[in-house]
Amino acid sequence: MQCTLSEPVTCRLLQGTIDMASSALTGEPVVLTVNGTTCSVDLPRDTKLIYVLRNDLGLNGPKFGCGLGECGACTVLIDGVAARSCVVTLRTVEGRSVTTLEGLGELTALHPVQAAFIAAQAAQCGYCLNGMIMTTVAFLARNPAPTLEQVREALRYNLCRCGTHVEIMRAVMAAAGVRAIEDGVGADDVAMSAPR
Ligand code: FES
Ligand code: FES
Repeated sequence: MQCTLSEPVTCRLLQGTIDMASSALTGEPVVLTVNGTTCSVDLPRDTKLIYVLRNDLGLNGPKFGCGLGECGACTVLIDGVAARSCVVTLRTVEGRSVTTLEGLGELTALHPVQAAFIAAQAAQCGYCLNGMIMTTVAFLARNPAPTLEQVREALRYNLCRCGTHVEIMRAVMAAAGVRAIEDGVGADDVAMSAPR
C-alpha cells in the first residue's frame, strides 16, 4: 500500500476546532516523500510523525506503544535509517524520504524480512513486529551478514512484551541468510550462527 495523497491534508485530531489550512501555525505545507509518493502536509511542523502517518495518511504499520521513543513499535525508515516516529517531528522529515511497513513489499511480493518473520511464526500479539521488521531492514542494509550477537545488539532497544525473542532472532538470521546469498557474502557464516 502506498500513500496516494497529493493534496494538503488536515489533522483529524484538530478538525472542527482549527482551520489548519489558514492557520498561522502551519505556514507552508511540509513536503515529504512517503513510500515513494510525494505528500504535502499542512500541519504544524512540531506534529509528531506517527500522527501524520496513522491519522492523516492512513498508514497503520507504525504502532503507538510508549510514545516516548523507548519501545520501538512506531519505527519507520527515514532516508533508510530506522527512526522512532513517535518522537520525530514533521520538521525533521521535511524534504526527506519516509518508508513505513506498507512501503516494504506487497501482499503478493513480501519483503524478505517480512517473509522470514512469517516463516518463523515470530509473533504472538504482533504489536512489536512493525518495529522489529523495520529495524531489521535498516540493520541488514548496513550489515548483510551479521552474527547472532550483532542481531541481538541491533534489536536490543525494541521491546516485545510477549517474549517471542527466540523466534524473532530466528527470523532475522533467516532473512540475513537470504540477503547474504543475494549479496554473495557470508551466507554460510549466517546460516551457521542462526539459533535453533
Ligand atoms: S511508540 Fe515510539 S518508541 Fe514506543
Ligand atoms: S509479539 Fe506481542 S509484543 Fe511482541
